Amino acid sequence: MKKILILTNWKLNGTKKKIKKLIKKYKNIIDKIKNIKIIIAPPLIYLDYTKKKINKINIKLAAQNIDLHLSGAYTGETSIMMLKDIGIKYVIIGHSERRIYHNEKNNIVEKKFNLVNNNGLIPILCIGENYAEYQNNQTKKICIKQIKFILKKTKTKLLKKLIIAYEPIWAIGTNKSPEPREIQKISKYIKSYIYKKHKELYNKTIIQYGGSVNINNFHEIIKQPDVDGALIGNASLNGKNFISMIKQI
Ligand code: PGA
Repeated sequence: MKKILILTNWKLNGTKKKIKKLIKKYKNIIDKIKNIKIIIAPPLIYLDYTKKKINKINIKLAAQNIDLHLSGAYTGETSIMMLKDIGIKYVIIGHSERRIYHNEKNNIVEKKFNLVNNNGLIPILCIGENYAEYQNNQTKKICIKQIKFILKKTKTKLLKKLIIAYEPIWAIGTNKSPEPREIQKISKYIKSYIYKKHKELYNKTIIQYGGSVNINNFHEIIKQPDVDGALIGNASLNGKNFISMIKQI
């Protein structure tokens, strides 16, 4: 039975009350399923609160972003040292919403990815094409270009895991997604590229799919042989739906 990694990205959503309720729902299912690992990415301000709520529950936490600096006069930012200090293990890097709304280009994504890796945390790298690129059959090219750019400066031996979330930009929050067989094709292609260029990452590579994953398409997507998990945004905010999705596994 393959292991499945689910990352729930709560983005800019939630209150303490809502988080408490969601964790209660998640808890009902987590102990019953052995082949699944869940990582939650709450808003930064609620990381510590969520950490207290998941105490003794088998759920891990991710930050949605970090700053490039370790400390100093950078108003409004959070550093990798602070995440380390409160015991966070994962950081989402290169999410398309960061790339679009915060102008994070590949060079920033690369720096953040390697900052996380060099400091002993696990980056979750988001990659993916826009709609025009999808229509022009550029998906493979775009994904490999993004991965190549990041990995050329990565100390791959330090990587505990290489987690890549394939997230077509046009599928995020739109209720549209590629066919499961297309997702499989891309996941397989990414894996074969990585295994060819970085043999040391064999058995360490996890490919997730993200972008409008919901109760209707989750199972078909997760069934694909080279898809090792899902990055779920909107659908993870509804506790009841989320549990039903996980039960499908
Ligand atoms: P969505 O978000 O599931 O709401 O489309 C996914 C993501 O942004 O990673």
